[in-house]
Amino acid sequence: MAKNILIVTGSEYSDAVYQAFYDTKKLGHKLYLLSDGSFEPKPEVFEKHFRYDLRKTKETLEYMKNKPEKFDAITIKTSEWLTPLVALLAKQYGCIGNEPIVAFNCRSKYHMRKCLEKGNVPIPKFKLCKNYEELINGIREIKTPCVAKPVGGNASYGTFMIKDEEDIKTLKENYENSIKFLKEKAIDSDVFAFNEEEMDLIGVDGHVDMVTDYLVEEFMDGHEISVDALVQNGESHILGTEDQVRMDPPYFVQLAARLPYVCSDEEQAKIKKLIELTIKAMKIKNSATHTEIIFTSQGPKIVEIGCRIGGDNLHDDMLNLTGYNLMFESIMIALGKKRIYEVKNKGHKVLKYIIPKNKGTIKKLYIPDELQHDPNNFNIEILLDVGDKVALPPEKFDYVGYISGSGETPEEAEKNTDEALKKIEIIIE
Ligand SMILES: Nc1ncnc2c1ncn2[C@@H]1O[C@H](COP(=O)(O)OP(=O)(O)OP(=O)(O)O)[C@@H](O)[C@H]1O
Ligand SMILES: [Mg+2]
Repeated sequence: MAKNILIVTGSEYSDAVYQAFYDTKKLGHKLYLLSDGSFEPKPEVFEKHFRYDLRKTKETLEYMKNKPEKFDAITIKTSEWLTPLVALLAKQYGCIGNEPIVAFNCRSKYHMRKCLEKGNVPIPKFKLCKNYEELINGIREIKTPCVAKPVGGNASYGTFMIKDEEDIKTLKENYENSIKFLKEKAIDSDVFAFNEEEMDLIGVDGHVDMVTDYLVEEFMDGHEISVDALVQNGESHILGTEDQVRMDPPYFVQLAARLPYVCSDEEQAKIKKLIELTIKAMKIKNSATHTEIIFTSQGPKIVEIGCRIGGDNLHDDMLNLTGYNLMFESIMIALGKKRIYEVKNKGHKVLKYIIPKNKGTIKKLYIPDELQHDPNNFNIEILLDVGDKVALPPEKFDYVGYISGSGETPEEAEKNTDEALKKIEIIIE
């Protein structure tokens, strides 16, 4: 039977994501879009495009409630900050999904830590700090080396390491710069707080400010991976893994990703067990998930988990590697269709972020046509434009975009991406 499916998003989609929509429509279903109105989707895909300021969770729920359309399924691709809204909408229409509090617990890194602690998932020591004095005390309690990060951050905005006593000298400046950056982000894009009323509606115990509250955590030393797993009726299936390369501390902006993460069967089994434990602790029931793990000398520990598909190019790269379209799978999970997965990787992918080398204004940005129109070999996404101002942490956590290349071996994929990167010209003055 034809179903009405609502897709919620904070940004426009790639062709591979649109393919999921075409495939869903071929099954006879109708698609609707809810966005902040910042882009125009491809024509004739959605029956209707609802536009609202999605930072206002409660108002958005009211806005949708007053529409004549009702929905049988609701889902999202990657927009982390909108996962509680998706869960609330699912509840409003009686759809399959996660409980709103579960989505919130994934959004607030403090609540996430509490759930993981309760579920005996290996995590670092942590402490919630609501102002600068608490931050200093938190650092004294957790002890250096430690990491300070905003409770509701993403893309490592405002996250930094405090290595030793020396770093405490610059702590105030670092913290204030980060909060300033986060507040700007809260106004114009993707980091925002929930108000008291919205947190009550979700059933949050211990309100937090996503923008100004910080978490101090014990520093986990080791290499980092991410895992994308789909969860259906509480049962998880790993679809992809990614080896991450990040900036050297004190900042953690991601520099590169290698897919899949190459490891032994034994390590794979450990990762699977940890992911299952994490998903269970968070009570995620029906959605995609994206989890980050650091392999410390005491074993693997969880950095964080989101109830959504991994960001940047992960969706398209995983489709290329495994043949599974995670957007289509997320829709099928939201529809309650039983899914079975048999994942085999074809080849390798290396993605590199284009990070500004200096502070300034972008004067030139040149990407050869051959790179832009070769989706089998390259995926490229540029987020900034000529005239945009960029800066490095701690002032800003900007990146210009990213490019991902393929190969039959990890080495070949790396070489292809590096050669493509050399052809991109960026001048920042
Ligand atoms: N306790 C910790 N120990 C060591 N590194 C950490 C710790 N917490 C965070 N990091 C580093 O900072 C990065 C960003 O932290 P986290 O994932 O919690 O925030 P985020 O803003 O959602 O990040 P992103 O979107 O970049 O994954 C992590 O991927 C990791 O590299
Ligand atoms: Mg993260």
